[in-house]
Amino acid sequence: MNLRKVTSMKHIFSIFSKKKMIRAAAKEILASMTKSESLLRHARTVELVMEALAEKLGENPEQYAVTGLLHDADYEMYPDQHPQVIVDKLKELGEPEIAHAIAGHYTKWAVPKISMLDKCIVAADELTGFIVACALIRPTKIDGMKVKSVTKKLKTATFAAKVDREEVYKGAELIGWELNELISFIIDVLQKNKVELELV
Ligand SMILES: [Fe+2]
Repeated sequence: MNLRKVTSMKHIFSIFSKKKMIRAAAKEILASMTKSESLLRHARTVELVMEALAEKLGENPEQYAVTGLLHDADYEMYPDQHPQVIVDKLKELGEPEIAHAIAGHYTKWAVPKISMLDKCIVAADELTGFIVACALIRPTKIDGMKVKSVTKKLKTATFAAKVDREEVYKGAELIGWELNELISFIIDVLQKNKVELELV
């Protein structure tokens, strides 16, 4: 067997084992740092949306899912340092791309948006949280939810006031989608996972 072949096999193996390690490690990290049920649910919801975005865009679903899962992982334990603690941990684990995306998942932190991963986490985070908030006040939750009802509530400043509307608009802009298209996509992901997410 020539050296080139051995090297490429090693490369494939390292990707395979790294993938398995990071997915399992991501879940462990999240569980060790976050106890709040609503934060855990937010992490899982953004994980699902990120995974679906990767599938749609032909990107790496596992990398996107882990980014979604861990983007707020240090928020409960280190609110003043968020997201630096989780960013450092991911760098240690050899995941610089995920670390960079999480470091910039709020546009006001002014981290340059280089990869599609950097842009997608902005697009997924606030809007997913907002759509869940919209669903929770409806009798049928996510079932039958229309894009229009979400855009209407976005214009109501008193509803889910903590959600930064600017982030929502910038997120869609960053990935080059119409806002309505992104809302519809996220509603669809939530509907497909409504039982697990308790949105029925
Ligand atoms: Fe978040």
